[in-house]
Amino acid sequence: MEKIVIKGPTRLTGEVTINGAKNAAVAILPATLLIDGVCTIENVPNISDINITCKILEGLGAKINWIDKHTITVDCRNLTTTKAPLDLTSKFRASYYIIGAMLSRMGEIEVGMPGGCKLGARPIDQHIKGFEALGAEVTVGKGIIHAKASKLIGNSVYMDIVSVGATINVMLSSVLAEGTTVIDNAAKEPHIVDVANFLNTMGADIRGAGTDMIKINGVKKLEGNATYSVVPDQIEAGTFMLAAVATKGDLLIKNCITKHLESITAKIVEVGGEVEDYGDSLRVYCNQRPKKANIKTLPYPGFPTDLQPQMGVVLSLANGTSTINESIWESRFQYTDELNKMGAKITAQGKSAFFEGVEKLYGAPVYSTDLRAGAALIIAGVSAEGTTEIFNLEHIDRGYEDIEARFRALGANIERVKF
Ligand code: EPZ
Repeated sequence: MEKIVIKGPTRLTGEVTINGAKNAAVAILPATLLIDGVCTIENVPNISDINITCKILEGLGAKINWIDKHTITVDCRNLTTTKAPLDLTSKFRASYYIIGAMLSRMGEIEVGMPGGCKLGARPIDQHIKGFEALGAEVTVGKGIIHAKASKLIGNSVYMDIVSVGATINVMLSSVLAEGTTVIDNAAKEPHIVDVANFLNTMGADIRGAGTDMIKINGVKKLEGNATYSVVPDQIEAGTFMLAAVATKGDLLIKNCITKHLESITAKIVEVGGEVEDYGDSLRVYCNQRPKKANIKTLPYPGFPTDLQPQMGVVLSLANGTSTINESIWESRFQYTDELNKMGAKITAQGKSAFFEGVEKLYGAPVYSTDLRAGAALIIAGVSAEGTTEIFNLEHIDRGYEDIEARFRALGANIERVKF
């Protein structure tokens, strides 16, 4: 087993380059199932969620070839089965994209019930509602989802709740359907636009991605044989931005789309940090103890739930009492127990948490309870006095590539140790 050991405190300084977005890549790879050709995907993050996605695609008959650390080719010309490997699909959440893509391409698919970070109830009723609206039959039982359609026909799909996954999944399932599909109350996250751009590059006709109404005119075939580069990871960029503030550091964050980071920039400025916007990079620095602030997580363009724990570290060090209201997930405050072990004073009640700011955090053994909680604990460990040991690294490795090397390059005393 492995743990991360951090000796702090360190003021982070230097430059970091942001990788391709995990949540875009885990949708774009299943989207290649729609394509009767070979796609080259660049800027793919080299993380465990991507490795699992590749194995699932291979299990369906795709041929995958890593050209370099961040570029792969995917050949889905000869798919061999409509049964996805159950153990792998149950391992992470984004395996639900296999359903939309395979329904479109093969008219049938069986997958294990999607797993992923334990953030509370994670229903997929909106995905199923979308598939059924297009004419699919979906059954769920004994941990298996089976979806089948002799023909998919475009329809109107109103999302009862703004859902990233359901929006993308309905896009995937309607691209090759007969006629037009309209998704109303669609999610607007940057990775939705990225998946639509990818599919359009391959011959799809998707309009309005990035707004709350997406129109998909079904096409007969996606030919592929093109190259696409995954959008930079908004959440990884935000993680380093908040690390700069929590450690009173000074970071140049390169290869990001600053427009995607406006809600985070606004909050950083509110707590007393400085952000200089250079279009495709940001300098973030903070010379003072953060000020208190209140946060409510919301779908894009609101403050992202996936940066809530990292922001929680900043607020646990702020001057005054701050509140975070989590409006997306039921259980995204498990990290607060770990921060409290490091001297934070946080009271979490249901979907709200109250942060009575402390001047310092102190190193302690802590457990990463989910992916973003893990990122928050690394930031906390770098800013804290003494030694922090972080356990349960599998969560962190799902979404952040070479995380300790990249923090080390910014001055952190951090290493991964076997035990
Ligand atoms: C995506 O999850 C991300 N994962 C999550 O990132 C992120 O936290 C989340 O969007 C919100 O931004 C991927 O993209 C792989 P949703 P997703 O469907 O698509 C409810 C990370 O750390 N809902 O937008 O699963 C749901 O319970 C991860 O990188 C239904 O009720 O999230 C939640 O309250 C964690 N029925 C809300 O909608 C449904 O059918 C938003 O969920 C679907 C969702």
